[in-house]
Order: sequence, then C-alpha cells, then structure tokens
Amino acid sequence: MKKIKVGIIGVGRMGQIHLDNLCLKFPDVEVVAISDVMEESKKFADQYGVNKFYKNCNDLIADSEVEAVVICSPTDQHADNIMTAARAGKEVFCEKPMDLSLETVKKVLSVVEETGIKFMLGFNRRFDPNFMKIRSLIDEGKVGEPQIVKITSRDPGPPPISYIKTSGGMFLDMTIHDFDMARFMTDSPVKEVFAVGRNLTDPEIGKAGDIDTAVITLTFENGAIATIDNCRKAVYGYDQRVEVFGSKGMAGTHNNTPDNHYYYDQNGQSASLPLHFFMDRYIRSYYNEMKEFMDCLITNTKPKVGGEDGLISLAIGLAANLSMKENRVVRLSEILND
Ligand SMILES: NC(=O)c1ccc[n+]([C@@H]2O[C@H](COP(=O)([O-])OP(=O)(O)OC[C@H]3O[C@@H](n4cnc5c(N)ncnc54)[C@H](O)[C@@H]3O)[C@@H](O)[C@H]2O)c1
Repeated sequence: MKKIKVGIIGVGRMGQIHLDNLCLKFPDVEVVAISDVMEESKKFADQYGVNKFYKNCNDLIADSEVEAVVICSPTDQHADNIMTAARAGKEVFCEKPMDLSLETVKKVLSVVEETGIKFMLGFNRRFDPNFMKIRSLIDEGKVGEPQIVKITSRDPGPPPISYIKTSGGMFLDMTIHDFDMARFMTDSPVKEVFAVGRNLTDPEIGKAGDIDTAVITLTFENGAIATIDNCRKAVYGYDQRVEVFGSKGMAGTHNNTPDNHYYYDQNGQSASLPLHFFMDRYIRSYYNEMKEFMDCLITNTKPKVGGEDGLISLAIGLAANLSMKENRVVRLSEILND
C-alpha cells in the first residue's frame, strides 16, 4: 500500500511526540523530512531514519515528496507555515493556536478554503479517552441537556519567562485548550465571557505582563454555563478534570495517575499524584488526533476539529483578555464582529 509521505516542521517538545508516533505507530505513514532551525535537531532525523533534514522549513514544504505537513514550530510561525504549505497543495496538521491575531487567523482560513487542502488543528484534548467518554455519554443522552460544565486545568509549573513573553498570555496559550473543551462539551455557541485573572505564583510572570491564576465563566446561547479554573503552578502536578452536569445526570473524570493504589495508616490515607505533565497525561490523545488526521487523508473526509474551532477559541481568549482588563462581561459578538 502507498504510504502517506509526511514532513514535520519543528522537532521540539510537540514535534518529537508526533515524530515518535508517526514513525513507530503508523504503518501507512512515512516521515520523509524534518525541518528545524537548530542544526542539532538533525539527530532526530538520524534516530528515526528520516532521510531529509532542512534548516529552512520552506525547503521542506517545497519538497515534492512531502504530501502532508505537521507544523510544530513556535506559535508566531504557524500562520506563515500553514499558508505556504496550503499554497503548495500540502495537507496540514498544525499545533494550536493558529495565531494570536484574529485578522491573521481569518486570512489563514481563507487561504485554506481557497486551496481546498485538508486542515486540522491540534486541539488534542478532544481525543483524550477520558473526555471522549464524557462526550459519548452526552451523545447517548445520559447527561441530558448540559447545564454546567466545570473544567479544572492547572499546570505543575510555569514555562520559562522567555516563553511567557512570546506566548500571547495565559488565556491564548494555555486556556485556549479549555475554551475548546467547553465548546466540545456543549452543543451551543458561546455568548458571553467573564474573566478574573491574578499573578499569584511568581512575580516574574507579572513583570512579563501575564497572569498565572484565573477563573473564567462562559455562558452559551442555550443558557448553559461553564467555569474554567487555571493555574500555572499546582504543587501536586498536572490537574486536568472535567465535569458536565445536565438535566439527566452528571459525568466527570478524575486525574490520571501512574497507578491507582491507595494506602492507609493511623495518620490518614494517601495515593499517587496525577501524571506530571502533558507529555505523559495526554500521550494517547496525541496518537488519537494524528490517527484522525491520517484517516481523513486516507478516506478524503474533513477532520473533526479545524480552523473554525481555532478561530472561535482565539476569539474567546481575546474576549477573556478584554473582560479581565475592563472588569466586565464581554459578549463574544463584540470580538467576532469587530
Ligand atoms: N497540544 C499541546 O498539548 C501542546 C503542548 C505544548 C505546545 N503546543 C504548541 O506546539 C507548538 C510548539 O511548542 P513546543 O512546546 O513543542 O515548542 P519547542 O520550543 O519545544 O519546539 C519548537 C521547535 O521549533 C523549532 N523552530 C523554530 N523556528 C523554526 C522554523 N522556522 N522552522 C523549523 N523549526 C523551527 C525550534 O528550534 C524548536 O525545536 C506551540 O505552538 C505550542 O503552543 C501544544
């Protein structure tokens, strides 16, 4: 069978996860090229038997052997990478977010539309088995009409200040996953956003102009309400929980732990801490999302999560920034129709 020939742009944390999955778990796929500005990243090409290594990602995109491009470069390069790849007729999987500007995202989406390529955005949490189970219980009608969605999403520790400075801020970098999760769990458009954010864990984050702790409330057109609570630093590890309460019941998930033991003695009880960070916690979701993308290429179907989802979640993030700044409820239409 003919294999799908893939090129990967950027082999940092995310690029290495996708490289490993594509090389070891996808018999229908061949990674034919890797691009990274760091010369030492060539070692990944050598390690996985990938023949071509390009320092310039446009050379990878122009390579006629490459049919699909997996973009794992830093966020500020995604838009250029997507548009260049689309114009070259390559199918595209891109890590979130597409860009930090709504105007640029709209431009990218028009290029994707014009060129007719397949485009998938890496909102991997939709492909996490825990959250998929909640969604399937909703689909089966067991939760009834979703009324309250509660999302807890806390990192074990903040990224380096250099990353914070170019990340676009916590709402666009981190909470964007939670905005997408809230949308995934409700079948109704977001209407209003109210956000409160503080700098409580590390003053350096505040000096860099960002927050590290927040609570955001979303209301939906159908009346449902979602709350998201975030922190860049949870001393006990990566805290990733979702609960959906509806007219017929409630569905939720606990954190994943390395084992499910418990221990009791005369002082109390203990158990293992949550899996430490995204590379462990979401490892199955990264495989599942890539399977979705590859299946769509094979069956010529549209990926379940794409550009429009990226655009809406970015708009919610921008609304959250405005809400926090002006201490008021922001209607999503204020951002989308601006
Ligand atoms: N879905 C998720 O769970 C998740 C988790 C982390 C990061 N991300 C996203 O993935 C993207 C990458 O994040 P990361 O944590 O892997 O970053 P990273 O810094 O670890 O890796 C980025 C890589 O891209 C390379 N690079 C930079 N400019 C390049 C260019 N012009 N051409 C080719 N390579 C280039 C860098 O040298 C580096 O190796 C970001 O957009 C981030 O938001 C997603």
